[in-house]
Amino acid sequence: MPKARSLEGTMQHRKRYLLVSLLLILIQYCTSKDSITQNQSFKDGDLLVSSGNSFAFGFFSPGISGNRYLGIWYNKVPEQTVVWVANRDSPVNGTNGVVSIEKSGNLILRDESSNLLLWSTNVSGMLSTSSSSVQLTETGNLMLFQDQSRSIVAWQSFDFPTNTLLPHMKLGVNRTSGFKTVLTSWKSQDDPGTGDFRFNMELNGSPQFFLYKRSDRLWRTGPWNGIQLSGVPDMTSKFIFTVSYVDNNDGVSLSYSIHDPNIFSRLALNESGTMERLTWQGGEHSWVKFWSAPKDQCDYYSHCGTFSDCDPYNLGEFECKCLPGFVPKVKSEWYLRDAINGCTRKQGEKTCGNSTDGFIKLTFVKVPDTSNARVNEGVGSKECQDLCLRNCSCTAYASANISRGGSGCITWYGSLIDIRQFSNGGQDVYIRVTAAELAEFLKSSKGSRSKKLVIIVVASAAGVLILLFLSWVVLKNRKGKRQYIKRLLSFNISPRSSYGASSTTKEIDENTDLSVFDLRTISSATNNFSLANKLGEGGFGTVYMGRLHTGREIAIKRLSKSSGQGIEEFKNEVTLIARLQHRNLVKLLGCCIQQDEKMLVYEYLPNKGLDNFIFDKEKAALLNWRKRFEIILGIARGLVYLHRDSRLRIIHRDLKASNVLLDAGMEPKISDFGMARIFGAGQMEANTNRVVGTYGYMSPEYAMQGLFSDKSDVFSYGVLLLEIISGRKNSSYFHDNAINLIGYVWDLWKEDKAMEIVDPSMRDSYNQDEVLRCIQIGLLCVQEQASDRPTMSQVLSMLSNGTALPSVSPKQPAFVIKKVNNGSNLPYSSSASIGAVSVDEMTITLMQAR
Ligand SMILES: *[C@@H]1O[C@H](CO)[C@@H](O)[C@H](O)[C@H]1NC(C)=O
Ligand SMILES: *[C@@H]1O[C@H](CO)[C@@H](O)[C@H](O)[C@H]1NC(C)=O
Ligand SMILES: *[C@@H]1O[C@H](CO)[C@@H](O)[C@H](O)[C@H]1NC(C)=O
Ligand SMILES: *[C@@H]1O[C@H](CO)[C@@H](O)[C@H](O)[C@H]1NC(C)=O
Ligand SMILES: *[C@@H]1O[C@H](CO)[C@@H](O)[C@H](O)[C@H]1NC(C)=O
Ligand SMILES: *[C@@H]1O[C@H](CO)[C@@H](O)[C@H](O)[C@H]1NC(C)=O
Ligand SMILES: *[C@@H]1O[C@H](CO)[C@@H](O)[C@H](O)[C@H]1NC(C)=O
Ligand SMILES: *[C@@H]1O[C@H](CO)[C@@H](O)[C@H](O)[C@H]1NC(C)=O
Repeated sequence: MPKARSLEGTMQHRKRYLLVSLLLILIQYCTSKDSITQNQSFKDGDLLVSSGNSFAFGFFSPGISGNRYLGIWYNKVPEQTVVWVANRDSPVNGTNGVVSIEKSGNLILRDESSNLLLWSTNVSGMLSTSSSSVQLTETGNLMLFQDQSRSIVAWQSFDFPTNTLLPHMKLGVNRTSGFKTVLTSWKSQDDPGTGDFRFNMELNGSPQFFLYKRSDRLWRTGPWNGIQLSGVPDMTSKFIFTVSYVDNNDGVSLSYSIHDPNIFSRLALNESGTMERLTWQGGEHSWVKFWSAPKDQCDYYSHCGTFSDCDPYNLGEFECKCLPGFVPKVKSEWYLRDAINGCTRKQGEKTCGNSTDGFIKLTFVKVPDTSNARVNEGVGSKECQDLCLRNCSCTAYASANISRGGSGCITWYGSLIDIRQFSNGGQDVYIRVTAAELAEFLKSSKGSRSKKLVIIVVASAAGVLILLFLSWVVLKNRKGKRQYIKRLLSFNISPRSSYGASSTTKEIDENTDLSVFDLRTISSATNNFSLANKLGEGGFGTVYMGRLHTGREIAIKRLSKSSGQGIEEFKNEVTLIARLQHRNLVKLLGCCIQQDEKMLVYEYLPNKGLDNFIFDKEKAALLNWRKRFEIILGIARGLVYLHRDSRLRIIHRDLKASNVLLDAGMEPKISDFGMARIFGAGQMEANTNRVVGTYGYMSPEYAMQGLFSDKSDVFSYGVLLLEIISGRKNSSYFHDNAINLIGYVWDLWKEDKAMEIVDPSMRDSYNQDEVLRCIQIGLLCVQEQASDRPTMSQVLSMLSNGTALPSVSPKQPAFVIKKVNNGSNLPYSSSASIGAVSVDEMTITLMQAR
């Protein structure tokens, strides 16, 4: 009996199971339709799902909002990611929204309770109003067809984007109708309403995209140069994209596609006015930022005013430089690092004078705003130069390669604005200068004996005459004054070294313990440097995670090309650095040198940088005081080793939270040490003209004069220590009078209230005396005078010295001047604040430096 019952039970269970599965199938069948036809209504709760399940269309509530909106989102991404919204400015109150195709053939959204029309596709004069239908395509496009066979499109959501540009979507302008597709930000994460920021193309001159905040221009992409947008050098087809630019009589537009349909990637204009490219990383269950703009201060439109060039790479120096032949319009402002009034042609110099003008080439730049420029169809580069030379009001020209769809010869008249430098990519621009200026430039670049390649273009028509004139000028003005022109132009124009096929690879170098990796090995370990393997990007290059065929995980730093070293020098340096071994240093395993590539291979640390912990509210709670103190000690030990105990006596020069990695046991490991040595001999001199480092961590003498010593590392260490205790970035915003964390801590210290800075996420895990001692040590490290700061060994002994306070009290630390942003419309003034210097020192050093 019991057996039979159990059998019966099983049967019933099976029946129920069958019923449930049937229901599930039915539900699936019902919801997975991808279109709406006439006479069908679509209510809140219904869904359209595209044929391959990638996108869904229906009602949703964003963030914490209770309002209902009609939109499209990724169906396969677990985190609700809305890519398009219909009724963004007229939400549905409650679940009364009903979508239908009305008599005119349009798709409409009504509120069923009030019968209010909330949104409509609003197309007039459709062919046959009775046969229209709507379909959600696999690309995420909602299309309204006006015929039975679905071949004539009356309307599509791709033409009316909200804040997201999906693959295959075109962003541009229709020349016939003047119709523009525009990305507009949401109001907030909870409100998809039309926000303040928009991004669209403008046709004036040569077409460019602009990012606006209301009517103010924030960022410009530059024109299409045949390969990429002049101001977006990261836009390459190398990774997973194909970018296509179409410019014909019909219109101009840009779109992109992704080769792998399993990769979800979108370009979105977020609520704070940043264009971001985000890619879904299933493994991490999150959208990972791959690119964003505006990125640095040089990206902000006209940051340096007229006739100037913005170079963000010479950290510590003012990023704005006048173009050759130009000087600051208001010198006093320029010294205060305010370039809003730009530059003006040197007094007494006039182009189109008695002798023929010439051109000086700027390489790797975003070309000036082309709104008032002229595009000269079918003009080659030689003719382009002549064209510019012949018209006295022509100030510059650029000649892009038209065979790739670029705009060919562009000539500018009058002011040149919004030029910036890139370390790679961008375009060349030729700036018109007088013959005298050209002579001076030639002389100063000769005198420098630098290996750097500087290209000068002289109008060939008067070539011989000019050469004679030049040599005369050179002889006459032997004592050059304007060295800075040389500096202005020599940056980033390093020769591209080609190593040929002779470079040694594969074998393990016998003399050293350094492994030399083959490019193919690295390539396959990183899945051909795939986006998914990218860990981050730093000043020296891009870092990838890789897995060797042995299963070992490695981190690869792919150095940016501007490293000026030869192979042998590079290998020597890497060999030396690889011998530095300490438990608080990241282990360098080897390198890879092949073709144009130089790469460093490190052990892989899964916990990533300290910055990911201390500056993140949730993760910061994982670090109690004990853990933090051990990290503080560990970093100090690593630095003592670098400064004193290692054979090389390395000064790190770029110590910061993101350069301290944590291993699985949360032990800190300093990374990127020795980069200054590896990156180039020119940067090893004690007084360097190319400062590497990061704002907020740089000591005043280093930021302003390029002077570095172990005491500049001590300064950075002090900043880092205070950051670890407070959980706040030195550069983050502080109210009251303090400009940065150091200033804030100092103010509190003077009032005996220093404990107020302690990160609340440590709760009561700390010993007050110990924390206070650390704050005091931190303040000792950031003192203005390098000689007042302790050495790292002294720091380490103070840290290990029980709980007694150090006997020395700190002097006033170096402060940061806040840049006064008068009249500028930058939305983020904090990013424009400059290095850590006191007022007096800044004026003095600037005078000396120039
Ligand atoms: C919609 O309904 C009308 C009236 O009931 C009918 O004439 C028409 O054929 C229907 N259309 C479709 C596409 O079913
Ligand atoms: C939304 O509907 C609720 C209930 O019908 C009503 O009380 C509320 O005032 C409505 N809100 C708005 C903004 O119309
Ligand atoms: C439809 O278009 C007309 C004119 O183009 C406009 O006046 C009207 O406001 C639009 N209606 C809706 C609901 O968008
Ligand atoms: C541009 O607009 C015209 C007129 O409205 C239209 O005929 C044409 O198809 C549009 N072109 C594109 C590429 O959308
Ligand atoms: C917008 O993007 C920038 C850059 O990725 C990011 O820092 C910022 O937090 C984003 N803003 C919002 C509101 O998501
Ligand atoms: C042109 O040359 C003449 C004679 O050498 C000189 O007087 C005049 O000032 C020059 N003009 C300019 C614009 O340089
Ligand atoms: C030079 O170019 C400007 C701007 O396009 C134009 O107005 C002017 O007529 C040109 N002058 C000559 C001599 O071609
Ligand atoms: C233009 O680009 C094509 C294709 O990349 C190349 O073959 C050609 O040499 C380039 N021309 C110039 C003048 O750079």
